[in-house]
Parts: sequence; C-alpha cells; structure tokens
Amino acid sequence: MADTAAKATPAGGFPGRVLDQVRPDSPRTAELLTSLIRHLHEFVDETRPTPDEWRYGLDFLARASQFCTADRHEFILLSDLLGHSSHVDELSNDGPGTPSTVEGPFHTPAPRRELGAIIATGAEWERGGWTVLRGTVTGSDGEPVPGATIDVWQSDDRGRYDVQDEAQPPGNLRALLTAGADGGYWLRTVRPSSYPVPVDGPGGELLRAMNRHPMRPAHIHAEIRADGYRPLTTHLFVAGDQYLASDAAFGVRDGLILPFARCDDPAAVTRFRMPGPFYDVIFDFRLAPARR
Ligand SMILES: [Fe+2]
Repeated sequence: MADTAAKATPAGGFPGRVLDQVRPDSPRTAELLTSLIRHLHEFVDETRPTPDEWRYGLDFLARASQFCTADRHEFILLSDLLGHSSHVDELSNDGPGTPSTVEGPFHTPAPRRELGAIIATGAEWERGGWTVLRGTVTGSDGEPVPGATIDVWQSDDRGRYDVQDEAQPPGNLRALLTAGADGGYWLRTVRPSSYPVPVDGPGGELLRAMNRHPMRPAHIHAEIRADGYRPLTTHLFVAGDQYLASDAAFGVRDGLILPFARCDDPAAVTRFRMPGPFYDVIFDFRLAPARR
C-alpha cells in the first residue's frame, strides 16, 4: 500500500480561501483561537505529555507539512481520518437536499466533458466494470436545475486516482459536466473500487498508532454548483461494499449508498452506446436553496 504516494509535484503553496470572519481583527478569529487554546491546555492538563511526547507531536505536524504537494494535502487527510472533516461538514450542511460529505484530498481541476462522455480514458475502460451514471439535478422542491455544474472524480477499478498513478492519463476519471435544459446529466465510466488512503506519510502513521485499517468504501465524488443554490459536495457509494460500516474517513451517509444494478438489456446497451452489459446507476442530486 506504500505505493499510493502522489506523483512528485512541487508544492504550489496553499493560499487558502479568504474568509472575512477570520481576518486578524475579527471577533470570530478571537473566538476560534481562544477556544482552541483553551481546549489544548485542557488536553495538556488531562494527558500530562512529557516534553519528548510534546516534541514528537510537533515533529509529526512538521512531517505532515513536508508531505503536502500540489496534488496531496496531508492535513486534509489527517482531518478526514480523525473524523473532524465529517463533523464540520455535518454541522455546516443540515438543510434539505442530498446529504453532503467530505471532499477528501484528491480533488483537482477536472476537464470539461460533454454529457454522456466516457470519463474513463485510461486502461480501466478495457478491463470492464462499465457503468452509466445518470439522473437529474433538482432543487429541494424537485424543480429541475438547468445548467448546473457537476464536477465528478473517482478512483479506477483498482482503487487509484490519476494523481497517484503514472499509468493513468491526467484528468482520467474526472469530468466537469453541465446539466441539460431539463437538469439531466449522464456519463459513462467504470465501477470504482474501495481503496486505502495514502499510508506512506503521517496519515498512515496515525492509523497504525490507532490500529485502524486505511480503507475507504468504493465511491464516486461529486460537487454540484448552480446559481441560487447551496453548493453540494458529496459521494455516491457502491452498495454492498465491505467497508461501508468502517470508512476510514467517516464519510458514509444514509441516502448516498446506491445499487450498481446490472443491466443486460441489449436495447439499453445500444441506447447508452456501451460496449456490453453495464451497471446502471441512477441518482438525482437535490440542492438546498442558497443561504441568504
Ligand atoms: Fe475518494
């Protein structure tokens, strides 16, 4: 599993998003920092770390920083593995619509593709596992959302993302689609596989220290954006995956586990221009209204 390291790419820096509420002189900054410092002191009081243990923790954070590249953000991985990404997400997205879940560390800008495109542009398409993913983007009242942007990314059938695998062409198994006039979308791909999170860095060090497995259940990532609606970041999980109940990133939500139904109907094979029988996956993304 140590070969899950990202391709070596120079660190591009992580400027982050500019948030008005965390500017240096804002009350929110003071609230966040004061609470963080108080909880860290409570941690020290409770666990009484030795100076060597405290230094080990600081060195761990330094190593995590050294593992970050343009394609790999080790702190997102650590946040995912500790359940904090999922916790923040749950508290921030409790409105109507499709459940959201963590973004994960493998999102990169996707190539624009047409509706119906084959997004599996590497050798995985020849290996089979053909899948059609289709549905409609709607609002919370069921109204179609024409022109919604659908950003999808996934691992291949061997559990690898393009940024981890020199054999995959850049942008493989990624797409930026635009929903049609009826809110409809569809794409052709391969069935993803469960996969281990990268364990060659501090994330793996953390899992080993906690005696936890590194596996995530098979899934397709999606981010949906449309004017007037709240952006949605979510996953579509493959029903029946053995890791659904023990996702290393705590990302599984009710309502996001989909049957990959086998379709052998020759008429459907022809209609979707598939090479043979395929998994037919239907999912409607339901967006919550934008916050005022
Ligand atoms: Fe993923």
